[in-house]
Amino acid sequence: MSEAVTPSTFVRKLSYATLRKLADFLDPQDAWKRVLVDISRPSGEPRYSQLHLRRFEGVVAMGKSPTIALLSDWGTTNCTVDQLVDILIRNQLLAPARLLLPGELTGDAFLRRECDIITVDPCCCDLAAPLFWFPGFHRFSFHELLLMTGNFDNRPVSEGGSRLGEGGFGTVYRGSFNKMDVAVKKLNSMDDISPQDLKMQFKQEVQTLQTLKHKNLVEMVGFSCDSDHPCLVYPYMCNGSLMDRLGCLGGTPPLSWTRRCLIATGTARGLEYLHSHRHIHRDVKSANILLDETFEAKISDFGLTRASAKSSSSTVLTEKIVGTTAYMAPEALRGEVTSKSDVFSFGIVLLEVLSGLPPVDSTRDPQFLMEMKEEIEDEELTLEDFVDKKMGDWDQASVEKMYSVAKNCLSERKNRRPLMEEVLQELENILTTISLAEFSCEKKGGV
Ligand SMILES: Nc1ncnc2c1ncn2[C@@H]1O[C@H](COP(=O)(O)OP(=O)(O)OP(=O)(O)O)[C@@H](O)[C@H]1O
Ligand SMILES: [Mg+2]
Repeated sequence: MSEAVTPSTFVRKLSYATLRKLADFLDPQDAWKRVLVDISRPSGEPRYSQLHLRRFEGVVAMGKSPTIALLSDWGTTNCTVDQLVDILIRNQLLAPARLLLPGELTGDAFLRRECDIITVDPCCCDLAAPLFWFPGFHRFSFHELLLMTGNFDNRPVSEGGSRLGEGGFGTVYRGSFNKMDVAVKKLNSMDDISPQDLKMQFKQEVQTLQTLKHKNLVEMVGFSCDSDHPCLVYPYMCNGSLMDRLGCLGGTPPLSWTRRCLIATGTARGLEYLHSHRHIHRDVKSANILLDETFEAKISDFGLTRASAKSSSSTVLTEKIVGTTAYMAPEALRGEVTSKSDVFSFGIVLLEVLSGLPPVDSTRDPQFLMEMKEEIEDEELTLEDFVDKKMGDWDQASVEKMYSVAKNCLSERKNRRPLMEEVLQELENILTTISLAEFSCEKKGGV
C-alpha cells in the first residue's frame, strides 16, 4: 500500500496513480503551464524557460501527460507536496490541491492558505499580478531594458545608436539579452488613450502573442510593464523588413524573384494561420513583414489583431480606424474589418513584391500603388514595365500568375476576394513551377 501523502512528502515519491489524478486536473486547458511558470529556483529565478515550456509541449504532441513530465522533472530537486500545493492554491487550482492534502485543506487551514492568494480585479491591468500569467516569457524590468538598449539611445543604429525604426504605436530599439540580439518595442504614451487603456491594449498584445505560434509569425521573448512605457521584446530580425529590403535601404542587394516568391508564400502561410485561428491582423504591410537570417518571412505586430466574433459573422466594426491607408480595403476605410481586408492589404504587398515600388510615393504619378493596377487593367501600363528590373531571375509566366493573385486580392468587393487559404495555394503552385523550371535548367546544364 502506498504511504499517506503529507505536506513533507517529496513530489518524486507520489504514486503513479496520484500523478495520473493530478494530470486529469492539470492537463486540460494547459493548467499545468500555470504551475510551470510559478516554479522557481532557490534564488527566486523561474526554474523553467520558454525553451523548457516548448519541450513539455512536445510531450503533449507525443500523447503523454505534460503534468506528469513536469512533476517528474521538478521532483528531482526534492521539492515537496507542500510547495506544490502552495503553487496550486496560488493559481486557484483548488481541486488538485485538495486531492493531495484533503485533510489539511479544510476549515481554517485552507482559509489561511487562501489568504495568500492575491485577488485581482479582472478589469485591473496590473500586469505584475499573478493572474496575468504569461508562460515562458521573460518579464523584464524597465531598468533592465534601459541597460540592454543603451538607455533607449535614439540615434539610428547606423549612427551608433539603438533606434531601428518608429511606427504608429512606438519606437523599436536594438538591444542584447543573454548574448541574443533583440528588438525592444517601447510603446508610446498617447494623448487620446489613457495609460490604463494603453496597458489593456498591451495586455491584449501579450495574450495574442502567447496563443498564436507559427514559424511565419514573430515570436516574443518577453515584456516589461513596470513603467509608463510598456515594452515588448522580440528576437532581432537581422534582415529587417520586406519594405526596406525591396527598397534596398542601406545599399542591400535586391531580392531575387525566387526569394520574393518564398517570402510571399511564407507571409501567406502566416496570415492563413491567423485567419484559421479567428484573428485578423488589420495592419498587413511590407513594414510588418520581417526577415530573419535565412530571409524567412515573420509577420509582426499582433497588437492590432483581435479575435473575431464567434458568431456567423466575422465582421468587426471598429470605432477607430487602425491600419495604414495605402493598404486599406475600401470597406476597412469605413471601419468594417474582416479577414478579407487583410487579403486586400496582402494584394498590395504582392504588388510591392512584383514592382519593388513603395505602396505610396508623393513624388510619383500615380501616388498609390493600387492605382497602378488600374493602369495595367486599362492597358496604360504593361506588366513588363511594372516588374522590378532589379531582379535577374523573373519569368513572364510566374510573374503573370502572381499578378493575377494580387488582382483577385484587390477586388473592390470583399466577397469576390479569395480566402487566404486559396491565396496560399496559388502561391505554392507558383513556387512549384519555379522549382520545376530550376530543376530542368539544372538538368539541362548538367547534360
Ligand atoms: N524584431 C525586429 N527586428 C528587426 N527590426 C525590427 C523588428 N521589429 C521592428 N523592426 C524595425 O523597426 C521598424 C519600426 O517598427 P514598428 O512596428 O514600430 O513600425 P511600422 O511597422 O513601420 O508601423 P506599425 O506601427 O504600423 O507596425 C520596422 O519597420 C522594422 O524596420
Ligand atoms: Mg510594425
